[in-house]
Amino acid sequence: MSVNKLIAGNWKMNGGLGLLNLYLEKCSKFSIPKNIEVILCPPHPYIKTASNLFENLQIRIGAQDCHHEVDGAFTGDVSSKMLAACGASHVILGHSERRNFYQHENDLIYKKVLNAIESSLTPIICIGETLSELKNNQTLKVLELQLKSVLQDTLKNTEFIIAYEPIWAIGTGKTASIEQINYVHKFIRETIKEIYGIAQSKNARIIYGGSVKDDNSKEILNSPEVNGALIGGASLIPDDFFSILNQID
Ligand code: PGA
Repeated sequence: MSVNKLIAGNWKMNGGLGLLNLYLEKCSKFSIPKNIEVILCPPHPYIKTASNLFENLQIRIGAQDCHHEVDGAFTGDVSSKMLAACGASHVILGHSERRNFYQHENDLIYKKVLNAIESSLTPIICIGETLSELKNNQTLKVLELQLKSVLQDTLKNTEFIIAYEPIWAIGTGKTASIEQINYVHKFIRETIKEIYGIAQSKNARIIYGGSVKDDNSKEILNSPEVNGALIGGASLIPDDFFSILNQID
């Protein structure tokens, strides 16, 4: 694929101003290659500050979720419009932690995706199988359902990113084998092609997430099937994060 690699850091409910400043300090010493796109996804309260701090650097800011409505009586929630107004350009949707802890089902994720697009945020749509689904050879069936519930006509000619994140690999130190990653990424691209045609499938970015670290990222990130990574734990240590960027040929 000729699309630029995209590396996104998902801080989850971690980090803060100190970590933003550490990133800023590292940015002054590390120049991000032009063919790599970098996105940091801090918790909501830091989005505005982060987007101001990194405005002129090659780092864009994403959120970790948004509500599916524009506004209303949804105590504790944040809309995509608000995130965009704070400077976010991307939003992670359907992360397995949101699916598990907040019962985000496929149809709700689709509504969130639509809402994000309306606010001009690019959705990073996470899909992935559990360990028992993997063991029972259900992976492709599960991923197809997750994909097809979101990739509807409304997303034709619209930019979205698919993050393949096997749930059993998130935060566990276990990564899927390169064979599994390539096999699944090919399947995802074929599914996109089946729905939207070849041109959109070629340009769609499919990234991998799940215990991506400095020492395992080279093979993963340089596979032609892999357009980048969604990085959790290692994005909390700027040296590790930049070292992952360095693995891209
Ligand atoms: P991890 O998290 O890199 O810590 O496994 C990835 C994610 O949850 O997006």
